[in-house]
Amino acid sequence: MKDFNNKVAVITGGASGVGRSLAFALGQRGAKIVVGDVDSKAMAQVAQDLGAAGIAAIVEHCDVTAVDSLTALARAAEKAFGGIDLVFANAGIGAGETGAMWDYSEKDWQWCLNVNVWGVINSIRAFMPRLVASGREAHFVVTGSGNGAYVILPDAPIYTASKAAVHAITENLHYQVQAAGLPVKVSALFPGPHVVDTGLFNSGRVRPDALKKEGVQGNQSGINSVDDMKRMAAEYGIELKTTHPDEVAAMAVRGLEQDAFWLLATTPETDAKIRARADMILTRATPVPAMVG
Ligand SMILES: NC(=O)c1ccc[n+]([C@@H]2O[C@H](COP(=O)([O-])OP(=O)(O)OC[C@H]3O[C@@H](n4cnc5c(N)ncnc54)[C@H](O)[C@@H]3O)[C@@H](O)[C@H]2O)c1
Repeated sequence: MKDFNNKVAVITGGASGVGRSLAFALGQRGAKIVVGDVDSKAMAQVAQDLGAAGIAAIVEHCDVTAVDSLTALARAAEKAFGGIDLVFANAGIGAGETGAMWDYSEKDWQWCLNVNVWGVINSIRAFMPRLVASGREAHFVVTGSGNGAYVILPDAPIYTASKAAVHAITENLHYQVQAAGLPVKVSALFPGPHVVDTGLFNSGRVRPDALKKEGVQGNQSGINSVDDMKRMAAEYGIELKTTHPDEVAAMAVRGLEQDAFWLLATTPETDAKIRARADMILTRATPVPAMVG
């Protein structure tokens, strides 16, 4: 898609972080923006900020764990702007895992898989039939993570599992639209190349009451922000590099302009991780964990 002017872009999880930056990057290129999110405070802020920037936008409450909520978002987008050209299935949470996975509560698994995996499945079910029916050029972009898609980081098993599933779904969606000869392009967005400074490490703020850990407040891992991660890395003598979400959005827009499937930063560090993993499998070597960062 070369021209975003007057295109309608729906962004789940668009009130914060990568989704918010995508809203501005596309809005500044003339797109009309539809944000769906569950964080009322961040939603009010992004609505105000998009308005102040002169970007045509609506911001709706939408819980990606319920397909009906996504269908309502699609209807709101159509009512406000007449159609949909780009969908970003972007909403996601970090589960804040700590300790051994056999001790995690069922609620930890459910919350993360509900948002990260079912959120993508529900988005596909709510929006793909509409994109296909329109017969027009369209983009369906899924925010995955290198952690799960091409490396398995050791400290977040639920999140990693969710993003492994998300990548399999995204690549299959691409194969299916290609095989059907549809004018819909599918892309896999990998925020990075470093840890992206967003609200992901404080996802507990949007954890539903029904899936709260019994008797536990906050994130047990002790990491509630990128600054916490930086501090913890510094204790091991490691300087954690970070990426601003605006850089991720700019990289995504450049890739979309080229109809690229992989919206993935090309850096020596990223390529080295992918190569190391491929080599480990090719040589049947016993896995050793990759480093965060
Ligand atoms: N931050 C990183 O380093 C990083 C790295 C790789 C992938 N990602 C992915 O990027 C995506 C965006 O996350 P982010 O880093 O910008 O974090 P973020 O917390 O800043 O933004 C995520 C947004 O999703 C929303 N959300 C959470 N649950 C929801 C639900 N049930 N329904 C609708 N919206 C919901 C949140 O309210 C928030 O606004 C996620 O899929 C995440 O897994 C992030």
